[in-house]
Amino acid sequence: MNKEKTSKYFTTPIYYVNDKPHIGHAYTTLAIDVLTRYGRLLGQEVFFLTGTDEHGAKIAQAAEKSGKNPQDFCDEISGLFKEAWKNLNIDYSYFIRTTDKQHEQKVKEFLTILKDKGYLYEGEYQGLYCVGCEKFITEKELVNGECPDHKCPPQKVAEKNWFFKLKEFLPQIEGLIVSGQLLVGPEQAKQEVLGLFRQGLDDISISRQNVAWGIKLPWDENQTCYVWVDALLNYWTALQQEGRQYLWPADLHLVGRDILKFHCIYWPALLLAAGFSLPKQVFAHGYFTINGQKMSKTIGNIIDPNDLVKKYGVDATRYLLLSQFPFSSDGDISLDRLGQKYNSDLAKGLGNLTARIVTLAGKISIKGSVEASENKKLAEVKNNYTQALGKLNFYEALSSVWDLISYCDKIIDTEKPWENRENSQQAIAALVVYLEEITKLITPFLPETSEKISQQIQGGKSVPLFPRLP
Ligand code: MSP
Repeated sequence: MNKEKTSKYFTTPIYYVNDKPHIGHAYTTLAIDVLTRYGRLLGQEVFFLTGTDEHGAKIAQAAEKSGKNPQDFCDEISGLFKEAWKNLNIDYSYFIRTTDKQHEQKVKEFLTILKDKGYLYEGEYQGLYCVGCEKFITEKELVNGECPDHKCPPQKVAEKNWFFKLKEFLPQIEGLIVSGQLLVGPEQAKQEVLGLFRQGLDDISISRQNVAWGIKLPWDENQTCYVWVDALLNYWTALQQEGRQYLWPADLHLVGRDILKFHCIYWPALLLAAGFSLPKQVFAHGYFTINGQKMSKTIGNIIDPNDLVKKYGVDATRYLLLSQFPFSSDGDISLDRLGQKYNSDLAKGLGNLTARIVTLAGKISIKGSVEASENKKLAEVKNNYTQALGKLNFYEALSSVWDLISYCDKIIDTEKPWENRENSQQAIAALVVYLEEITKLITPFLPETSEKISQQIQGGKSVPLFPRLP
């Protein structure tokens, strides 16, 4: 098979550098890391792209507030994202920054293609703009005169802009989404996007006149590229380095449901206009709140993933974030519940089971085999796990592994194999096989733990994996 057939290309959104990373960003990035590691275990070549979104008024304002020049400010915060991903053992293939010279050059080339094909025109924009969202906003969307997400009044804008003929592409994109040629998941997200077509959409402005911190249009130096166009193009520009173009189109753009419109409507339209093929799938996961509230600087409830790693360790943090609730649902995170879950699922669940089995196995000589009835259990768990991951259901995939963990605990409690009865040897052999299977299944989620368990099984010595926390 040639490269095109076996390689996969997965992306996360590129995150704004107006502030340091929080667990919302970590959630999406971890999810792609798990899919990447899973794909690689299956023998696929997976290219995992992440990065930072560094232009536009929002970033320029944040830089100004901190008293730094925009580039220094971006360097610093982008570095914090890289550091957080390192601390979370995130194995990305490439980290793109929209201030990379190569990206800037390719954005200019892309815009020139659109212009040459006649899809851009000059116009006057008059309306409202929310810098927090980096998007034009309508009166209808405001709540008490404010952007409902950022709780601040939008700016009044009246300027000359370049517009993109979005409307020309809407029927085609709608058709591709309905027919599933452009997969939008989960179903709820697909319906939300289809609803946007029904409401009607106008052409979009793709440049800004008064935002200096951005990529200049090659044919009009007074205008900079609209930050969302600049940002979306990262998925394409990142591959434009020697030898990577074969990865296009992306197999999956994973996003939070807040940015569906940009990924399911604007992005496909820009690609169609330039004559490029469309991504295969856009999947939107749910949003989480902290103790019932939106995560925000003003409320002061932002959780830094580095703090979780310090408290619980890398693998535990990876587990705790992805096992909270079904991926496509919104959910609430509480620090207390994270601690309880750590103790119940990791210290007591996986950690304790490993210690029990490794200790039992060290006492006797065992041969690894499982009876037919028990194989059925393994087949069922593996099947549930594979199905769940195929649908990006990380929570269900983990639940199926934890189901096997409790199943093993029950075997130990009922069969008491340490009492050295007739079939103790066989029970222990089966438990070792189960533990080996658990080790394999957790690999994409808890890579270091999986390695440690394998070593403990081989060495016959148990070392605590997740010390119980007070
Ligand atoms: N820069 C744009 C994306 C451009 S992609 C071409 C952007 N950046 S962002 O920093 O605001 O990141 C948004 C993404 O972070 C969401 O789409 C989601 O993936 C993730 N999350 C941010 N907050 C989150 C939660 N509270 N819960 C879950 N995920 C969250 O938008």
